[in-house]
Amino acid sequence: MLMEFEEIEYTYPCAQKPAINCLSLQIGQCKRYAIIGRNGCGKTTLFRLANGLYRPQKGIIRWQEKPLKYNHTALNKLRQQVGLVFQDPEQQLVGTTVEEDLSYGLCNLGLKPREISDRIQQTLTEFELTDLAYTPVNYLSLGQKKRLSIADVMILQPKLLLLDEPTAYLDPYQTRHLINTLNYIQAKGTTILIATHDLDFVYLWADWLLVMDNGQLQVEGTPDNVFKQRQLMEGLGLGIPLMLNLWQTWSNSSFAVNSSLSDAQQFRQWIQQKWM
Ligand SMILES: Nc1ncnc2c1ncn2[C@@H]1O[C@H](COP(=O)(O)OP(=O)(O)OP(=O)(O)O)[C@@H](O)[C@H]1O
Ligand SMILES: [Mg+2]
Repeated sequence: MLMEFEEIEYTYPCAQKPAINCLSLQIGQCKRYAIIGRNGCGKTTLFRLANGLYRPQKGIIRWQEKPLKYNHTALNKLRQQVGLVFQDPEQQLVGTTVEEDLSYGLCNLGLKPREISDRIQQTLTEFELTDLAYTPVNYLSLGQKKRLSIADVMILQPKLLLLDEPTAYLDPYQTRHLINTLNYIQAKGTTILIATHDLDFVYLWADWLLVMDNGQLQVEGTPDNVFKQRQLMEGLGLGIPLMLNLWQTWSNSSFAVNSSLSDAQQFRQWIQQKWM
């Protein structure tokens, strides 16, 4: 088990009710996880608890079977292994230029100068930031800032990567590029957990879905099993992916999309092969 939340409760100072309420979940190795849930259900708070930015008032969070410790050294180590890409890139960027921003986290890892410069060059290329290397961070567009904030975390090569709304502000080309990069690092052994409102994306991308409501985990499972529960998902204010909706409408009508696809699971695999 990589990370485990056991009956976690977290209430913001001065808040009336907990943002996270008796939440238990487990994150295993090497999978693609996604968290969905309405605005304010607690996704961002959960991420901040996972990398030790917040400390729960109740419950235990375990990283690789051991309870989190909250001293400076332990938190530094945890944050190198559990990378968090913030929902708002403005909160993440610290350097004056793109290159300096990328080097910031690496300097704390105790790497040799040669390795630092190799990792920076590789990341600039991977994230198509080479032309912007010496650009002041505050000149970047919002989408470019988002791309840099993801690169800032990926350059540290974390074991668990938490991405809060990673595709927000990205154009279709950069979204596709990001998905390819995520698939590549996941195949190399990084576990990825994404919070998003994009149901079509999670339907095709995720291995395992966590559905939150009101600070609690309501349901979890494969995308096929979660979205099969249409009434429940509608009751949670989320609904089901548009493409699954279309499939269900078509498969119930005389207009056959593709006669070789007999159920929703086959349909998802068919689309996945075409698009992902
Ligand atoms: N700093 C804060 N102080 C008090 N309450 C907060 C604070 N930050 C968030 N909250 C509250 O905690 C709850 C959970 O918020 P959180 O940001 O985790 O939700 P979310 O699922 O990430 O929402 P979104 O989809 O809009 O990003 C909300 O009710 C929110 O109003
Ligand atoms: Mg959020």
